[in-house]
Amino acid sequence: MNVLNRDLKKLVTIIEKNEKARLNNDYWRLKFHLMPPVGWLNDPNGLCEFNGEYHIFYQYSPFDENGGIKLWGHYTTKDFISYKNKSAQIFADQPYDCHGVYSGCTMIYDNKMNIFYTGNVKHIGNHDYISSGRGHNTVLLVSEDGKNFTDKKLIMTNENYPKNMTCHVRDPKVWREDNKFYMVQGARDKEDIGQVILFESNDMINWNVINIIKSEEKFGYMWECPDLFNIEGKNILLVSPQGIQQEGIKYNNIYQSGYYIIEGDYKSNNYKLNDFEELDRGFDFYAPQSFIDSKGRRILIGWMGLPDIDDLYSNPTTDYKWQHALTIPREVKIKDNKLIQNPIQEINNLRKSKKDINIISNINEKAYDTFDMVINLDECDKFESIIKDCAKLNYDKENKLFTLSFINGGYGRSSRSVKLDKLNNLRVLCDTSSLEIFINHGEEVFTTRFYPTKEEMGIKIKGENLKGNITIYEMEAYKIED
Ligand code: FRU
Repeated sequence: MNVLNRDLKKLVTIIEKNEKARLNNDYWRLKFHLMPPVGWLNDPNGLCEFNGEYHIFYQYSPFDENGGIKLWGHYTTKDFISYKNKSAQIFADQPYDCHGVYSGCTMIYDNKMNIFYTGNVKHIGNHDYISSGRGHNTVLLVSEDGKNFTDKKLIMTNENYPKNMTCHVRDPKVWREDNKFYMVQGARDKEDIGQVILFESNDMINWNVINIIKSEEKFGYMWECPDLFNIEGKNILLVSPQGIQQEGIKYNNIYQSGYYIIEGDYKSNNYKLNDFEELDRGFDFYAPQSFIDSKGRRILIGWMGLPDIDDLYSNPTTDYKWQHALTIPREVKIKDNKLIQNPIQEINNLRKSKKDINIISNINEKAYDTFDMVINLDECDKFESIIKDCAKLNYDKENKLFTLSFINGGYGRSSRSVKLDKLNNLRVLCDTSSLEIFINHGEEVFTTRFYPTKEEMGIKIKGENLKGNITIYEMEAYKIED
């Protein structure tokens, strides 16, 4: 028995229990989004369906709401409505992961859950932790039942990655194809070019580098959290690049998250990445991961937050010792060469009472604490909606621009926009402190945290030549069992 593992587990349970009362006092605890039981959360990890249950792991720092040592937290669900909080499950308890169990994935094979992650190590000394001083180790952990996670194996160190890489090689994502296993990892090479390393294996233990996937022109210095999958005949590479300059309304966040459609054969040199497209236009979205479920759906979950944002905007939930959340699970499809994202169907099961409104100019409705609002527009020259006296959604047909901005409660968040030829549909999922706005049936998405007070409860809508109808559903809370 690893006693460090045993004692860390005990400690996390104690902290979660001790902080529960304080957290429950926070109005901004979300009702239908997954949050850390206490402390900090970042990337979704290891998403999968195994033995009839969905597993959602995540980067978890229960000891510090501003970050710190990363463990893997764990939720399970059968229906995306009732969840079990399994708390921290994978601990930094080995010399090769002692500074954090970083991001990774699960690969279900032979009725076992094979978990791959990056073991982070920071060596003592005078290092920049980019070209020296950091170990990024690939670790495999096999769980027979999805409940016990003790059997770790170190399968790659920096020595096994191409010689021109810095120490930054992380976030394995594995899939099976043509009787082989493939893995992508995000990387920063010695010329500071962000890219993806493609590996191949027959047994999930011995891996060979078979290619490097990168854009023709440099696009950032580091690509985090790669995910490569085929959807409706197209190969898609999701990545979260760092080091991209803002270009007008594009790339406004500190780091980006988006995708490339890959043309040609990415296992050889005969491939090309099409233009990078942002997945989400809001303030709080990063490091998404996807998986395919037994119904054949490609489901994507993102981190509703960003790293390194201190000076730009904040989350007042740190007063209650927690920060960040995951997005709603989204089903991803492809339409006209573009990824579209919509909430998975199960989210509709949280809908309770509803209000239907047919004439939608000059609306001033009392809103629910948490709601799902669907607006279908037959005509729209100008549209403006103010949600809970805080967030403002704006569309103008003349300049073809959709904008999300804040009047109140944005805690430093300013405005974000996207070009849009027409506005004919909007779906707004509003939780106590988050908004996810799906535009034109998922063509564009804006995800943001915001912090309205209990008193700020209205939905206002006005516009010009605005015709259509609205349904506002009150949303029920998830059930989360410890
Ligand atoms: C992305 C990321 C990953 C890393 C993890 C550490 O947000 O930086 O690259 O594995 O977070 O928490």
